[in-house]
Amino acid sequence: MKIIAVISQKGGAGKTTLAINLAVAAALAGSGGVTLVDLDPQASASVWGDNRESSMPRVEAAQANRLQQCLDRARADGGGFTVIDTAPHSETAALAAARFADLILIPCRPAVLDLHAIGTTIDLARLAGTPARWC
Ligand SMILES: Nc1ncnc2c1ncn2[C@@H]1O[C@H](COP(=O)(O)OP(=O)(O)OP(=O)(O)O)[C@@H](O)[C@H]1O
Ligand SMILES: [Mg+2]
Repeated sequence: MKIIAVISQKGGAGKTTLAINLAVAAALAGSGGVTLVDLDPQASASVWGDNRESSMPRVEAAQANRLQQCLDRARADGGGFTVIDTAPHSETAALAAARFADLILIPCRPAVLDLHAIGTTIDLARLAGTPARWC
């Protein structure tokens, strides 16, 4: 199962928007069972899932210290692709997601302060040893 974590320590960077759209695109592309894991206590992705009529992608709310079990369930259910949406300002959750991910995506607006802010997230990706790309 491929896992992509969407991480930015900056609030409002576009994490949830990117995570939702990636998960829907993967489901439409027939990437097997697609799960969107919501690690953010704000629960924006979960609220989106509640309001969505389609059952794909499946949306699961999780806590950082239960992320492994959540991913194991998705894998056991035949999951092919999982996207993890993370909270801003939560290094514990971001690091947990980074460690389980095959790839980290860091959404970033084309503005000086936003570019400056992605440094923390790049450091976190290095700490986890997971490749990261900003977009
Ligand atoms: N690529 C984009 N272009 C323009 N607006 C965007 C883009 N991505 C997100 N937005 C808008 O930016 C706002 C914040 O987006 P979003 O909620 O996805 O950010 P977030 O990083 O998940 O925020 P938080 O840190 O609070 O979880 C929303 O109003 C969203 O519609
Ligand atoms: Mg969000």
